[in-house]
Amino acid sequence: MGPVTPAADAPVLDVSGLAYAYPDGHQALFGVDLTVRRGERVALLGPNGAGKTTLVLHLNGILTAGAGTVRVGGLPVGKDTMAEIRRRVGIVFQDPDDQLFMPTVREDVAFGPANAGLRGAELEACVTRALERVGMAAHADRPPHHLSFGQRRRVAVATVLAMDPQILVLDEPSANLDPAARRELADILLSLDLTVLMVTHDLPYALELCPRSVILSDGVLAADGPTGELLADAELLGRHRLELPFGFDPSAARR
Ligand SMILES: Nc1ncnc2c1ncn2[C@@H]1O[C@H](COP(=O)(O)OP(=O)(O)O)[C@@H](O)[C@H]1O
Ligand SMILES: [Mg+2]
Repeated sequence: MGPVTPAADAPVLDVSGLAYAYPDGHQALFGVDLTVRRGERVALLGPNGAGKTTLVLHLNGILTAGAGTVRVGGLPVGKDTMAEIRRRVGIVFQDPDDQLFMPTVREDVAFGPANAGLRGAELEACVTRALERVGMAAHADRPPHHLSFGQRRRVAVATVLAMDPQILVLDEPSANLDPAARRELADILLSLDLTVLMVTHDLPYALELCPRSVILSDGVLAADGPTGELLADAELLGRHRLELPFGFDPSAARR
């Protein structure tokens, strides 16, 4: 075998045999395999407690695998690669208040790129571009805690976009958003030309935003396929405690 160089066509995300037990002994993941290729938008569906957030926390090394591997663009997640992995994987956490901690929106978005060495006009341009992509450039000088929840969620997305990640990972992005904010965020996500892994139990959101879905259930991947096909399988959804909103017809929706 030749030297191990990450192939140019390596998947953006390659999770293999990932298992994890929390320190209290509770096992949350039992051997998860998941490959996401460049440009894909994949929804990670599953009921509460399925292990979705636990999986997300492995993608940039916040948690480290009990067994198995996670590779990002061919690079394995590990102690030595952590800085580069965290640049490649942009995670938008469920609660924006876990992500925003500076006095102004501008400083929050500048934090990551400044840490990575950007300065002056280059840093300013990077911050402005990230805020423009989420429609928040006009709010750059406001304190994040003066913004609505939906606006804070968008700023959290901007903090991640500012790092120019290879994959954008969102944990329950539509949770706690009112219908207008939910729609605005969907339009923003659709406008981004990025590889996306979106954790959600909002099935219509998955259908609109993600051509492919996987179902995580009790710590194992139970299904992987076109979102429309998965959502049309009432028996599959029922088995994994996933519910479509009353009256929602997946075959009549956009995708
Ligand atoms: N810090 C923790 N310590 C022990 N068990 C945990 C911890 N966090 C989550 N769990 C358990 O791991 C399982 C998966 O949780 P989680 O990944 O948060 O699920 P999801 O995001 O799909 O709702 C659940 O049974 C949960 O109770
Ligand atoms: Mg969760």
